[in-house]
Amino acid sequence: MSKIYTSADQIDFTLAEISNMPLPESLLMVEPTYFSVDYVINPHMQGNIGKVDKQKAMNEWNSIKKVYESAGLTVHPISGAKGLPDMVFCANQSLPFLSEDGKKEVLMSIMHSDMRKEEVGFIQKWYESNGYTIHQLDAKKVTDFEGMGDAIWINGKRILFGGYGYRSSLSAYDAVSEKFGIPIVGFELITEDFYHLDTCFCSLNSDTVLIYAPAFKPEGVTIIKKLFKNVIEANRYEGAELFACNATCPDGKNVVIQKGCVEVNAELEKLGFVVHEVETEEFLKSGGSVFCMKMMVW
Ligand code: ARG
Repeated sequence: MSKIYTSADQIDFTLAEISNMPLPESLLMVEPTYFSVDYVINPHMQGNIGKVDKQKAMNEWNSIKKVYESAGLTVHPISGAKGLPDMVFCANQSLPFLSEDGKKEVLMSIMHSDMRKEEVGFIQKWYESNGYTIHQLDAKKVTDFEGMGDAIWINGKRILFGGYGYRSSLSAYDAVSEKFGIPIVGFELITEDFYHLDTCFCSLNSDTVLIYAPAFKPEGVTIIKKLFKNVIEANRYEGAELFACNATCPDGKNVVIQKGCVEVNAELEKLGFVVHEVETEEFLKSGGSVFCMKMMVW
């Protein structure tokens, strides 16, 4: 039976009642050798075709990798593939998790954009070589599902927050919840600029999230405030221009975020998080930043 929650009055649980899922300690990153903006599939890419500075992108990517390593995480780099300029955004091609009995599993995505469909097979190869059981969605029932771009684990918990409207469909969450017995809270995204849930929602720990409220329907914000003690709201500049909510908190303590999110960072530090500022300007030209440039894996 699928368990999907889309309104605040359906929320009859607290996160403390949800079972735990250990946090991963390593992550995948796809080398940006072939990263560029070659087409437009989100509004941020508009006007940026051919504008990526490759050397700068490589330097930004390397600096981010070093931050993870200095925080004690292991990074597994995967080679990019020619002709797949967006593969560097490796939050999107899969949704990995641990089963209740601790086995490594992964559900592969069905990319919304034809431009990105071929990326999935490359990422799947890594999982095949690393002891994962691979699952696929039934393409007759689900057309769009962009992995952890939209389906986000609440740090340390076996519950997903799932964005839909642009790149993933609500029917994908029915299928995921039904197949794996995972509860899912669904959020309809209402602005094209925030086309993935990871552009406006960041899970920090089981008490705390960072959001950009205008990307959600009011009901979505109500649900978030019902479930979390601390809700940090990014302002327009930091949320929309700097993609503050595409930050990542891999261990419940360290937060890696695009440089310049002054107000968000002050809130994070007040709550005891350690902020690491990085530069992702080249990747912002494609509509992505820190969170979507990596995939946490077990
Ligand atoms: N150009 C990519 C796309 O439109 C960017 C993806 C960024 N990923 C993310 N999870 N927000 O698909």
